[in-house]
Amino acid sequence: PEDIRVYEFAEACGKSPAEVITVLFSLGMMVTKNDFLKQDELEILGEEFGIEVTVKDALEDVNYIEDYHGEDVDESSFVTRPPVVTIMGHVDHGKTSLLDKIRSSKIAAGEAGGITQHISSYTVEKNGQKITFVDTPGHAAFSAMRARGANVTDIIIIVVAADDGVKAQTEEVISHAKASGCPIIVAMNKMDKESANPDMVKAQMAERELTPIDWGGNTEFIGVSAKTGEGIDELLENILIQAELLELTADPSAKAKATVIESSLEKGRGPVANIIVQNGTLRIGDNIVCDTTFGRVKAITDDNGRPVKELGLSETGTVLGLNEVPTTGSIMVVMDSDKEARDIATTRAEHARAKELSKSTKVSLEEMSGLI
Ligand code: GTP
Ligand code: MG
Repeated sequence: PEDIRVYEFAEACGKSPAEVITVLFSLGMMVTKNDFLKQDELEILGEEFGIEVTVKDALEDVNYIEDYHGEDVDESSFVTRPPVVTIMGHVDHGKTSLLDKIRSSKIAAGEAGGITQHISSYTVEKNGQKITFVDTPGHAAFSAMRARGANVTDIIIIVVAADDGVKAQTEEVISHAKASGCPIIVAMNKMDKESANPDMVKAQMAERELTPIDWGGNTEFIGVSAKTGEGIDELLENILIQAELLELTADPSAKAKATVIESSLEKGRGPVANIIVQNGTLRIGDNIVCDTTFGRVKAITDDNGRPVKELGLSETGTVLGLNEVPTTGSIMVVMDSDKEARDIATTRAEHARAKELSKSTKVSLEEMSGLI
């Protein structure tokens, strides 16, 4: 829908653009010949002209690339890949601190106002097995970022401060988590506190259909403390058990496909994309296309900011070399040639621009009559 212009439609059904415009005008819809037709307008025109209208995605020919890594695959080259685990929860319940403890770093203390404002991701190792974590902000203003986190993830950890219980963003996170269909682990944090009340958390979560295993449900609840480190081993072991059940596999020899979780324009570095690799291996020199942007991978840094030559399955890092800042949530795909990558990105960019233009020149009949 919205991918065919008035004159293209007219051409396709052997009418003149004027005929198409007249039909829509008589029904109160103002369009010009360059405007894109909406689904309902297409239906009306179909009825009016007595033709059957089926809508094909104009970008079908370029958008297939995001799936093509899954086609013609040789299953024998698949290997187990690390899980991507997203940490979500209400503001200040200790998501970043928990991740800090897991990585033995000190990020939460260095954040502006102690509030996470970006999605960040880290790969850690436990018993020789990798786990990639995605940290999300709990603040109410960042729900789009949380939704994005939910898209790339295999397992969701809902952090609930055991002294505070279920709060507004906990509720929001529960619905994201359920909608994602991912296994959920509840980490009851701040267990070191005198006022910690894990039974309260369990009861509140059970009311929301996340019932603890020891209460006869099937959700794992683990008491942890980002301060003392209590329960963290158990949490990590649990993640690995869940991951094993999911049988996550991918092909390290495939051309890489990754998801952009954050992006920015950095002084002296240009467009920077923070990605998680979902399939294949991304290497320096690869030709990439990412939504409407393209380029060649110039440099890769790992989650510690160290330069690396490649990123493997489920690994996370930043990529330099795109011509523009890609939209977060978009898919980065490696193409065979520089030209291929450029052509796809350009087609998409032109299409997006035309659509934007068509929006801004469209005036409704009501607006028109207001002018007369
Ligand atoms: P947002 O990113 O703003 O959503 O917060 P967050 O969930 O990442 O919380 P953060 O890790 O920034 O921690 C919030 C506060 O709780 C900080 O002052 C931490 O020191 C404190 N805190 C986190 N975990 C624990 C814990 O296990 N025990 C105690 N006592 N304090 C904790
Ligand atoms: Mg945080």
